[in-house]
Amino acid sequence: LSSFVGGPTGKWKVLSIDAVRGAVLPVVERIDIFNPPFPEFKGHSWVLNGVISNARYVEKAEKIQLLARQAPLNRQEATRAALIPIKKSPAWWNMSQDERRAIFEDQSHHTAEGLKYLPAIARQLFHCRDLGESFDFLTWFEYSPQHSAEFEHLVQFLRNSEEWRWVDREVDIRLELGEPNFSKPEVP
Ligand code: HEM
Repeated sequence: LSSFVGGPTGKWKVLSIDAVRGAVLPVVERIDIFNPPFPEFKGHSWVLNGVISNARYVEKAEKIQLLARQAPLNRQEATRAALIPIKKSPAWWNMSQDERRAIFEDQSHHTAEGLKYLPAIARQLFHCRDLGESFDFLTWFEYSPQHSAEFEHLVQFLRNSEEWRWVDREVDIRLELGEPNFSKPEVP
């Protein structure tokens, strides 16, 4: 389980929060990511929880390519990040697995296109639909500033894809690595 906590403190400084579709999240200054055992969150505005799960759509040949190309999180040069929580529609979830796979890959080329951006973009998908959260997925990406335009290109490609017709809510949060903003003691 990972918790993305939006509030006044955290190692990721918020550059922008945009509602792509549906309701936006309250604006916060910073985001921190926690894993169990959790500290007591205080003074935060929101918490989004997600779990790393098994792949649903990836086929063996794709998996081999992903493993060969993907970069790890926490690279020193990757000082930019994007947290993009996404909720898909009831109609998406009512489809069968093979219908969803056909839209995801055969029609939208999500993996084939995404692969072109590896290893520049490091990624981690978190699932949260079964946790009763307000989103189905938390998508997390890390990259260096010189790859931010490329990342934008991929995001636009996906938003124009068939798959995105099933997206009901999407918030786009862009971040920059910054020193933790510990709250200053009040001067008497
Ligand atoms: C950086 C290149 C990217 C690659 C290589 C990539 C690859 C993948 C793969 C392989 C999956 C399927 C996992 C499974 O089998 O369950 C996936 C799922 C997903 N990706 Fe990406 N992706 C990339 C970028 C993005 C971006 C930029 C976004 C958001 C704007 C995004 C949003 C999602 C979502 C929401 C899912 C879950 C879809 C679902 O289960 O219905 N991905 N991605």
